[in-house]
Amino acid sequence: MNNFNFKNPTKIIFGKDTYHKLATEIPENSRILMLYGGGSIKKNGIYENVKKNLSKFHLEEFGGIPPNPEYSVLMDALKVIKEKKIDFLLAVGGGSVIDGTKFLSSAALYDGADPWEILTSKRPTLNAMKFATVLTLPATGSEMNSGAVITRAEFKQKFPMGGAGLFPQFSILNPEVVYSIPERQLANGLADSFTHVLEQYMTYPIDANLQDRFAESIMQSILEVAPKLMKDQKNYKNAANFMWNCTMALNGLIQKGVPNDWAIHAMGHELTALYGIDHARTLAILTESHYRYNLKDKEEKLVQYAERVWGITNGNDEEKAEKAILKTTEFFHSIGIKTKLSEYTSEFKGTAEEIESRFESRGMKGIGERGTLTPQDAKKIVELAY
Ligand code: NZQ
Ligand code: ZN
Repeated sequence: MNNFNFKNPTKIIFGKDTYHKLATEIPENSRILMLYGGGSIKKNGIYENVKKNLSKFHLEEFGGIPPNPEYSVLMDALKVIKEKKIDFLLAVGGGSVIDGTKFLSSAALYDGADPWEILTSKRPTLNAMKFATVLTLPATGSEMNSGAVITRAEFKQKFPMGGAGLFPQFSILNPEVVYSIPERQLANGLADSFTHVLEQYMTYPIDANLQDRFAESIMQSILEVAPKLMKDQKNYKNAANFMWNCTMALNGLIQKGVPNDWAIHAMGHELTALYGIDHARTLAILTESHYRYNLKDKEEKLVQYAERVWGITNGNDEEKAEKAILKTTEFFHSIGIKTKLSEYTSEFKGTAEEIESRFESRGMKGIGERGTLTPQDAKKIVELAY
């Protein structure tokens, strides 16, 4: 097992009837900016419920953060933070609203010339404005981690950022929010969380027994709840299990002391930046080709995954690995997610070369758990996903 530090300071408040905790968890006399997306919270009652519990604070609000949080919209929110002397941010939404809030929390205290540098410099944010979240869409784990991904449409770019200063102070996870989520977003949440575990697990063995068992149990739990959730999302048991799986899949716990891959995400972000494909779906497009292309490097873990998660016992190692890859694709199909790029855009030709040249122009040396996948490898993987 590798050396590691582990600190996750985010307090999780999980369950029904928890919004009243806002009034006591947010520091007294805070000047709050509540941030949200395109308006789903006004249809499902979350907006009123949250506001009711913030009546004792000075409250401003900013709506309209789009999926794949857009830099230019966030710059408008930054003006509100400065003009209204805001000192606490509250994200009410899914990964996009939470990530946008993380960017703002960093930008609000940034003393450089241009906040865009936060994304291009790759320097971690250690000091940021305090913020909390009310999660409305289980998927990304952003409610309990310190990462974010921000889009700038004018440049067709989507860049990650993060740092120890960007953990939420607390996050309210009320599974009842799941009742109003459209089927497409439920499937996205299942696929995104499942791939988060894979990115931290499907590497090479390093005798990290507990991390492996944690990862396998989260994947099994996602596979168990997926068909139930897609059939009956208004069942509290399904909603609660779905929600906690997603948070645990990317809150830092299973990635400590083990090699991490994240190549699927690196390539996936480019597909979102180029074609606007939902984040989770870009991962489903790339998973099969990434694992097939790297089958020899990942064979030991693929076999372990085949045996322990899918119960595959027949065949030699290569056959087991191949069967597990196909099972993963079948899982995506079972929740209604297509897994070929050509099923999302007719303009897929040239995508592989475009991603290769983007990675080259950023001076990317290598991705994947060994840092050995070059822009040329990425090109071949994307081509396999057409
Ligand atoms: O904008 P509104 O109207 O609220 O509608 C949203 C949005 O259209 C809707 N929605 C959310 N909660 C709802 C609801 N509709 C009905 N009922 C509810 N309770 O869902 C749509 C999608 O929301 P979004 O926040 O974009 O989805 P998600 O949570 O999947 O977030 C995706 C973003 O997170 C990033 C992705 O790259 C993408 O930009 N990620 C963030 C990560 C992190 N911070 O750790 C890790 C991930 O790998 C990912 O990269
Ligand atoms: Zn993801």
